[in-house]
Amino acid sequence: MSSRVSHLLGGLAPSATLAVDAKAKAMKAAGEPVIGYGAGEPDFATPVHIVEAAAKACYDPVNYKYTPTAGLAELREAIVAKSMRDSGLSTTAGQVLVTNGGKHAVITACMTLLNPGDEVLIPAPYWTTYPEAVYLASGKSVAAMTEEANGFRVTVDVLERARTPKTKMLIFTSPSNPTGAVSRPDDVAAIGRWAAEHDIWVVSDEIYEHLTYGDAKSVSMPVVAPELGDRWVVVNGVAKTYAMTGWRIGWMIGAPDIMAAAVNYQSQTTSNIANISQRAAVAALNGDLSCVYEMREAFDRRRKIMTSMLNAIDGVSCAEPDGAFYCYPNVSGLFGRSLGGRVATNSAELAETLLEQIKVAVVPGEAFGTTEHFRLSYALGDDDLVEGLSRLAAFVAAG
Ligand SMILES: Cc1ncc(COP(=O)(O)O)c(C=O)c1O
Repeated sequence: MSSRVSHLLGGLAPSATLAVDAKAKAMKAAGEPVIGYGAGEPDFATPVHIVEAAAKACYDPVNYKYTPTAGLAELREAIVAKSMRDSGLSTTAGQVLVTNGGKHAVITACMTLLNPGDEVLIPAPYWTTYPEAVYLASGKSVAAMTEEANGFRVTVDVLERARTPKTKMLIFTSPSNPTGAVSRPDDVAAIGRWAAEHDIWVVSDEIYEHLTYGDAKSVSMPVVAPELGDRWVVVNGVAKTYAMTGWRIGWMIGAPDIMAAAVNYQSQTTSNIANISQRAAVAALNGDLSCVYEMREAFDRRRKIMTSMLNAIDGVSCAEPDGAFYCYPNVSGLFGRSLGGRVATNSAELAETLLEQIKVAVVPGEAFGTTEHFRLSYALGDDDLVEGLSRLAAFVAAG
């Protein structure tokens, strides 16, 4: 019998990270003591001044109506100012499209730039959404595998090995989800020059730009590699920086012709993004970054705790991540061992065992293009963070 679902959507993989999170939340709601490391979501409340701006907006009838598809003028201006302040990116409000989160900006960029069969380089391990966004836009994703021994560093060599005459675009993000690796500014500049040399468009996903630790610093590829000219799109949003995952505000910035097409696409799909959320985002971006620095301090502390607790487990090894809020430990030392009466041979099987037996939810590396790792988010409360890892350590020690 032929499928009732279209071939296009029938071939779309579900978001593994959201699936793990949903399962963990459902088990928790059913009274099970689940610790969820699945979601890429800060545990903090959105800062009060942002919530107050949204509350005020609820009482202003101007927000009850459709507004320009590309976004409120105030928000687009705030994005222009923020881009200059935070990364030195010079742009204009006419080049900004406000989207329903960064994820929507990624798919919009793919829809805007790709033709059937265009190849898109995605450094791996990669955010689970990138290949699917490319697929939906009829492109072909090509994973460019980085090396764990080299800190999952994205280099020109790694990309050049995966380039073909059909390579149209590179999706680049630093800090990385899932590895937490932060590219060195000179690597980012070299990659930009390499892309320019081969006429490759760059989608620069800068959603974790503020979440770097120690000496690591994120830079914007179009800023450090002006050779790209206008063949770039920047993707960003408020979700991770301001603990605003549920508000669904992201944006896309690019050349005027590209943005005109992207706005046209949005006009036929979602129209404008919810005004209340846009007003909240204006308050977030126009405020100072002190609330962000406070959250970053907590993430920094948790990152160190998580890394050292993981490394203390026999069979697990984890480099200290420099950015975002994820650890990506290699757990292959646990494969083939009897744990709780089960023997896992890959990270998906091991993740299943952990959820069932010790109620710890992690995202298996298969979702990010590798089979030997887990992704654990450390954007959860300190007590839960320690409790879940203690359970894991005890489980492995017990065999
Ligand atoms: C690398 C990366 N880009 C973009 C996003 C999109 O975030 P949102 O759609 O919540 O703004 C995420 C969220 O997990 C991400 O990890």
